[in-house]
Amino acid sequence: MSYLDSIDINKLPRHIAVIMDGNGRWAKKHNKPRVFGHRNGVKAVRQITEGAAEIGIEYLTLYAFSTENWNRPAIEVNALMMLLVETLNNEIKTLDKNNIRLKTIGDIEQLPAKTQKALQKAIAHTHQNDRLTLILALNYSSRWEINAAIKKIGIQVQKGLLSPQDINQDHISAALDTADIPDPELMIRTSGEQRISNFLLYQMAYTELYFTDKFWPDFEKEDLYQAIADYQRRERRFGMISENIMR
Ligand code: IPE
Ligand code: IPE
Ligand code: MG
Repeated sequence: MSYLDSIDINKLPRHIAVIMDGNGRWAKKHNKPRVFGHRNGVKAVRQITEGAAEIGIEYLTLYAFSTENWNRPAIEVNALMMLLVETLNNEIKTLDKNNIRLKTIGDIEQLPAKTQKALQKAIAHTHQNDRLTLILALNYSSRWEINAAIKKIGIQVQKGLLSPQDINQDHISAALDTADIPDPELMIRTSGEQRISNFLLYQMAYTELYFTDKFWPDFEKEDLYQAIADYQRRERRFGMISENIMR
């Protein structure tokens, strides 16, 4: 039996966010260098993107590189940037064929020029696709994003376009990199770590969190479907009580 059979297609989360973690430990387990783990992590990205598109998920955000990940050894950082360029160039056609639109969140301008170029190309090439939006969080951290949002709002105030008393949550949402993207209903983190690691802090106010011990390279479509089935068994109360909830 597949977990797919226990999923209610009418109650799918619109947006799933994933912290793809455990590539390094997966490689270690196989007595291989960390980069080997990242390469195999790309296979999981392909699988999960395909799996999400197949059942009708609208938005999939993958945390691929955090602002803190620059503190890793240069050899690993360089390998990750190269892998990203290589993957984007290899996958552009498949993304397009499957009607998938690519987007990014994060401080893209600080990425190496080559990486930015590959991203721009893939984004431009897929921008009219409307089945699944695949969002890569690159050089991303939530505190960076919130800081940048505050600057944008500050500039609006300075220009006299907005008065401080009028600032509301819509202005904040609109100033974040995720403007136009609905908040994720479900967040999955692999590798057994149970933390958020500076990911979508504002957007995840009411997100259901799902943790699995599997390392990212071992995460398959069936694991995604298991997480969705688990999510669908939960009651999301948003501060209300059971009897209040509109079904
Ligand atoms: C996640 O796997 C991928 C990135 C952060 C780029 P890790 O590289 O963090 O793997 P572990 O956590 O060391 O096992
Ligand atoms: C979070 O994983 C970032 C990404 C998956 C890109 P990390 O491995 O960097 O997080 P920590 O250091 O375990 O919190
Ligand atoms: Mg990690």
